Amino acid sequence: MNRRSFLKGAAFVAASVAARPLLASPMAEAGEEAPLRVARDFSFGPDGSFTLLQFTDTHHIIGDPRSKRALDCVREALDAVRPNLVIHTGDILFGKPDMESALEVLQLLAGSGIPWAVALGNHDSQFGSTRKDMFDLIRSLPGCVNLPPKEGVYGSSNDVLRLFGAQGIERAFYLFDTMDAVILKGEEEIHCYDYIRHSQIAWYRAHSEHLAQENGGQPVPSLAFFHIPLREIEEALISGTILGGTNGEPPCPSRLNSGLLAQFREMGDVQAIVTGHDHDNDYVLDAGYMYYIYGRFSGGDTIYNHLGREGYIPSDGPTAPGTVSGCRVFRFQEGQPGFETYVRLYGGEIQQRLEL
Ligand SMILES: [Fe+2]
Repeated sequence: MNRRSFLKGAAFVAASVAARPLLASPMAEAGEEAPLRVARDFSFGPDGSFTLLQFTDTHHIIGDPRSKRALDCVREALDAVRPNLVIHTGDILFGKPDMESALEVLQLLAGSGIPWAVALGNHDSQFGSTRKDMFDLIRSLPGCVNLPPKEGVYGSSNDVLRLFGAQGIERAFYLFDTMDAVILKGEEEIHCYDYIRHSQIAWYRAHSEHLAQENGGQPVPSLAFFHIPLREIEEALISGTILGGTNGEPPCPSRLNSGLLAQFREMGDVQAIVTGHDHDNDYVLDAGYMYYIYGRFSGGDTIYNHLGREGYIPSDGPTAPGTVSGCRVFRFQEGQPGFETYVRLYGGEIQQRLEL
């Protein structure tokens, strides 16, 4: 089944929900499961296009010369692409002082005049500051559109953004907080990356239902952005097709599958799951029922990264100076259900331009 027929077939699910009043943005009304709020509404530009720029895994450490390329990469991409929206999918920093390290990256976004949002990564609260304090810092900066953490919803950076055309809502962008590590107690403890919790799924479903109502009962084509990929990507690598990019390492998801992909399928709106976390991957994987898309590692050499290294064979090896960092770009056209995506390397080279 192709993606368009899948979306069409799933429309009855959203259309069957009980009628509720349409909600203006920002949503302040309390739903049964979670507060309903939209972080920010956007419109297509005068030429009918909308450009979203994704940075991921900048892993910045202030004062560390190994970080210089991360700052250069972010600064250059913002100037060259001039997107309508920037999303950083986490691991902004990678050392102490953590607040100052995050600030040095985020001030580039804040100074750009471009709206931006963050989906936090596992390392963003591992160097002294709590996740809440880090998120408060992020939200305090100019241009940040993230809302305060939702009461009763697990994590901090769970948000939804809407994109409107002349005929109404055309897109939604969901951000999820995939948190850090988790230990589940029991006879045999489970130690692994954290998993998407029930409260986050309820939050997503409530918003998805409302947006579908605003769209005449049809699911709103959406992309989901978060740091740690879902467990199902491992199966998709076997059964799906990589359309472009490098598969440089096995994905490192949580060991626990808590069902977010099934919810995306039930609601019929999310077309693509966009993540970071695995620095040596920047591929677009078509699983038939979903696109799994990695951002392009945007950091310097404070942590492993091999993409762009000449002659690189995915395996162990020293970090190479000159490894090419970059970002991923998404372009949407008003009235068009698909989208374009490509990787932009630091220096300007464009790779894997794909129409999805
Ligand atoms: Fe990372």
